[in-house]
Amino acid sequence: MAARSVWRGLVVSVGVIIPAAGSGTRLGEPVPKAFVELGARTILEVCVAGVLDAGVADTVVVVVPAELIDTAQRLVPEAVVVAGGAHRSDSVRAGIAAVRTADIVLVHDAARPLTPPGVFERVVAAVRAGHPAVVPGLPVADTLKRIDPHPVDGAERVVATVEREVLRAVQTPQGFTRDALQRAHADDLGLATDDAGLAERCGIPVHVVAGDPLALKITTPWDLRIARDVVAEPNPSAGDVGGSEEPSPSAGAVGGGEDPCPSAGAVGGGEDPCPSAGAVGGGGDPYPSAGRVGDERSEEPYRDHPTHDRSST
Ligand code: C5P
Repeated sequence: MAARSVWRGLVVSVGVIIPAAGSGTRLGEPVPKAFVELGARTILEVCVAGVLDAGVADTVVVVVPAELIDTAQRLVPEAVVVAGGAHRSDSVRAGIAAVRTADIVLVHDAARPLTPPGVFERVVAAVRAGHPAVVPGLPVADTLKRIDPHPVDGAERVVATVEREVLRAVQTPQGFTRDALQRAHADDLGLATDDAGLAERCGIPVHVVAGDPLALKITTPWDLRIARDVVAEPNPSAGDVGGSEEPSPSAGAVGGGEDPCPSAGAVGGGEDPCPSAGAVGGGGDPYPSAGRVGDERSEEPYRDHPTHDRSST
């Protein structure tokens, strides 16, 4: 876990918080979701191994139900394990307290254990490039309709069709400067489903990089079945995931099979990781101006964050 690096003359450390304290009610398993088996290991073990494989983390903090702290610590001895709270954001806040010396903090749901290393690399690279908040996102394949929130006699009624080209299905890890994440969580009401949503409410610009179909979220029994199939056959033939022509499904494949962020992934280069994203579905750059911050900010993203003592985490 030696990812700490010098970037533009500054030592930068990365902390990864893995919220894993949910009950996983929708999965219908007898144990909390992170402790459900995925192949020979639990979802939690697969998730932590994926984070470590990505090679970006100096510190990994896992947040679990209080009664499962000892169990989790045995499963993932590489991680710091802390108790979570009633809402996801309570759990994230418990994690933030445990990564207080990190310059960059990623929040990565345990429910996305198959997320490939490239996604972590793109997110970290974009934060290093000066974006205070970064999410991985995928174009949306389905046509989406807005419904009347007040059904009549239980019947839902469509009130609008949402323009699909401007929508992204957002995944984790979501990356932040520590300051941005702390600000985002300072006045949270406990209702947010992701951390970038809290950042948006604070007026913090949120930048999008390419996600990956393998970063799928395990919520329902169907999702678990797909994840177990992927674990059983980790390298499906080309085209099985997202229609990609790449030999590996983790090679930035998005929706129609073209990588919208072809040059993403250069960590530490200090450049926009998505500088000239290619066309997705013929529609041009899918991330043309998603939350870009000014050049001045890009040059000195840690101006207000001197190097800290990192020995305690
Ligand atoms: O409930 P949902 O699937 O959206 O949760 C996303 C992630 O947040 C999961 O990994 C879950 O374990 C975690 N979580 C948490 N504490 C909660 C609720 C959810 O750490 N109170």
